[in-house]
This record gives sequence, C-alpha cells and structure tokens, in this order.
Amino acid sequence: MNKIAIIGGSGLEDPGILKNPGKTEVETPYGKPSSSFKTGKIEGVDVVLLSRHGRDHSIPPSQVNNRANIWAIRKLGCTHILTTTACGSLREEIQRGDLVILDQFIDFTRHREITFHDTFENGNLQHAAMAEPFNQLLRDKLIKNADDLKLNFHPRGTVITIEGPRFSTRAESNMFRMWEADVINMSIAPECILANELEIPYASVALSTDYDCWKTDEEPVTWEAVLKVFNHNVKNVIELLSKTIASFR
Ligand code: ADE
Repeated sequence: MNKIAIIGGSGLEDPGILKNPGKTEVETPYGKPSSSFKTGKIEGVDVVLLSRHGRDHSIPPSQVNNRANIWAIRKLGCTHILTTTACGSLREEIQRGDLVILDQFIDFTRHREITFHDTFENGNLQHAAMAEPFNQLLRDKLIKNADDLKLNFHPRGTVITIEGPRFSTRAESNMFRMWEADVINMSIAPECILANELEIPYASVALSTDYDCWKTDEEPVTWEAVLKVFNHNVKNVIELLSKTIASFR
C-alpha cells in the first residue's frame, strides 16, 4: 500500500488538504522531526504531512533536523516523498509563479548533517549513488499532472541549495548561473540525499518566487517578496500535489 509523505516548505506549513486529519509524534535516534506529522487521506490515499520549518516557521534552514525528518518518514512506513520549496530563478525564462519539477541538485551547504552513514563499521562501506537523485516515476507523474492542469511549469531544473539564512551576493548568483543551476533555495540538500540513502523515492516541486539578485533590472530578492509570490501561487502547488497523490489510488 502506498503512503505518501509531503514535506511542506515555506508557505506550505499547513495546506489543510487532508481528509480525516489526525496527528502523530515520532521519535528518532536523531532527535525530533521539525514538527508533528499530520496524518490523513487525499482521494483515499494515505498521506502524512511534515512542516520543514516547523508549523510556526521557527526553524531556520541550517537547523532543520533532516535526518530526524527522513528517518521518521521511513518509520511511518511511507513509500514516497513529495516536497515543496520556494526558490529563486537563475534563468530569465523561469518566471515568478512558475513551477519547476527538479531533476538535479548542487549542494552548496556547509553546516549540515549530510549522511546516515557516519561510520563504515565492519567493512560496511556506504557510498550512495546520486547521479539521478529525484525519482523518475514521481517526476513523470508531476509533469503529466502539471501539464493536465495547464500550469506554467518547467519539466526539469537544477537547484543549487545554499546554506542561508542570508541570500546570495551578486557575485555568487552569477557564479551559480555559470554552473548551470536553474533555481536556488536553502532546503533540498541534504534532505534529498538522506531520502536517497534510505532508498525512499523523492521528488520536489519548486515554486519560483524571485530572480535572486543576478538580474540588475529587478530588485534583489527579499523574504517579504518570496512569501508574497508564494502565497499568491500556492494553490497551484496544492492542486498539483493533490492530483499527483490521487494517481496513487
Ligand atoms: N528561496 C526563495 N528565493 C530564494 C533565493 N533567491 N535564494 C535562496 N533561497 C530562496
């Protein structure tokens, strides 16, 4: 039986989309997850919902306990993980409000726990493959449903995850463009890495909220602008997640 975990990013702390909602707390060897899990169903499919930054958005990106979050999701028996994230656009053609179905990441974080494999005891060497970190079946479903819903979306995109909480300098933003990153955020790595280590299929819908600061004819990104654009477009993300989850029936 499929059971889908949603990790909601900024602006999607509690989308209120679950039927018969309940709540469960999970303990892990890595401590507490970011929030309790909301449990329930979407179109008859079992779903659990976690708020990446806490239900009151009190957890900054560097403090998110990604290992506890992913461990708890496995402990709850989830078969797939769908996540959302606000992102800045590093490409002219990715406009504010567009969705990007991510297919690659660049990990530019510095202060995070990035693996479950802290030791290689008893010759148990663990080097997870990471060439295709986003699950293709989930990506295909998201792409088909985004198409059916006639959303403005991009079927692929490389995200660069920075440590934050500060935004990038213009020099950094230009460098990330040269590295062929398409969008920028503060949360996909190492969350996606850890899901891959536990072999839980993972995919992410990124909602473009700003042009970071590389585009000199635009105001540099502010947090207020990110939230405003996210809130304005969040219904598209919710619709896409709901339709995609319904397809697991
Ligand atoms: N999240 C949304 N916009 C962002 C940006 N420009 N940089 C990093 N994270 C973001």
